[in-house]
Amino acid sequence: MKLCVIGAGHVGLVTGACFADIGHRVTCADSDSHKIEQLSKGIVPIYEPGLNELVQKGRNKGTLLFTRDLGGAVKDSDVIFVAVGTPARHDGRADLSFVEDVCRQIASAMESYKVVVEKSTVPVKTGEWVKHTLELNNVNNCDFDVVSNPEFLREGSAIQDFMKPDRIVIGVENERAEKLMEEIYAPLGARIIVTDINSAEIIKHASNSFLALKISYINAVAEICEFAGADIEKVSAGMGLDGRIGQSFLKAGIGYGGSCFPKDVLAFIDIAGQLGCDFELLKVVEKINRHQRERAIKKLQDVLWILNNKTVGILGLSFKPDTDDIREAPAIYIINKLQKEGVKIRAYDPTAMENAKKVLSGITYCRDAYEVAEGSDALMILTEWEQFRELDLAEIKKRMKTPVIIDGRNLYDPAAVKGLGFTYMSVGR
Ligand code: UDX
Repeated sequence: MKLCVIGAGHVGLVTGACFADIGHRVTCADSDSHKIEQLSKGIVPIYEPGLNELVQKGRNKGTLLFTRDLGGAVKDSDVIFVAVGTPARHDGRADLSFVEDVCRQIASAMESYKVVVEKSTVPVKTGEWVKHTLELNNVNNCDFDVVSNPEFLREGSAIQDFMKPDRIVIGVENERAEKLMEEIYAPLGARIIVTDINSAEIIKHASNSFLALKISYINAVAEICEFAGADIEKVSAGMGLDGRIGQSFLKAGIGYGGSCFPKDVLAFIDIAGQLGCDFELLKVVEKINRHQRERAIKKLQDVLWILNNKTVGILGLSFKPDTDDIREAPAIYIINKLQKEGVKIRAYDPTAMENAKKVLSGITYCRDAYEVAEGSDALMILTEWEQFRELDLAEIKKRMKTPVIIDGRNLYDPAAVKGLGFTYMSVGR
């Protein structure tokens, strides 16, 4: 089938490249001419394992095209996936202005029946607004349907999450749209759940918020473990063996970041408030998450006493391993806070340094973890990159001014690190 994906960001690009790989002809449209120019030359501007190969494959087969001409792409496609950003505004509400703008452009370009699909994460009842906007701008008076098809792609494993999803959620208003969407996803042979549009929109926010809740819950238990002399890793393992709880998203640490959890939790709180429900539970989830970063800074202060003029090495800038994305990354928040205290920062991340340089200044960016350790009064581990697990800590210690490690991701065995002479603090142990 001929598909159009509007928005060539993490979600749009992965979605487009994967649809092309399973047999569709996909046109990816984006208003950013530089991004489209790069993609048309086969340069993929984001780091996502396997994406580069998939984009080249689609380009070589002629099943994946890139354009700035949104109107032409709409005319030339049967189903249009709206995958533009829905960032959090300052008040936490989802900014839907990009969605609205794209819907107006789609409506004025439609010349035949189209299915317009919400791929971006949007608050419940956005589908009604999309339908209203399409009707308002439907200059050629075309027939169309609106569908909600939320994504569940994790950065770093997005292609696998697309190709082998736990479920595909499709929110529709009629059989015609349902059949078309089932045909599009048929090659995946995955479980499809069909609902109304509002329910599909809520499934997305409720799923992400629940995962965030799981993380804040285990982080709150971790704090209790620290005072109780218990080990959160053992507590989490013991809890997770219960099939009703499950091991995943039960890893205590510095807290969640990324372009989804923080904004989806705020947006769900906001939309619930607009509907007259005070979602206090999620407000506490968000508060606990913010508290993790403060706790890490306090641990640093507890051991260094005075922070001013100290040198602190940061290992990990991305919000999680296997991505170069630093959006809402704990490291960004912590570095800004430490710099305000007069701390000199040395930092290393395997992929995210270029992105970090765009938002952080006055930092010594290092070639590797060992260079970060040079003259540092303390090291903070904020992203659990695999390569940090294998560091030669004896070598690290030699280079540091004082052997202090604040481990925000419980990478190391406390006894082993303390045995090397480090002052070592982690989470929940
Ligand atoms: C998330 C959802 O998983 C995905 O379904 C949705 O479509 C987009 O948002 P993503 O944000 O890319 O994906 O990464 P994810 O792997 O979910 O991790 C989110 C954050 O939670 C990261 O900062 C990670 O470090 C943190 N996390 C995750 C924990 O702190 N503990 C855990 O056990 C798991």
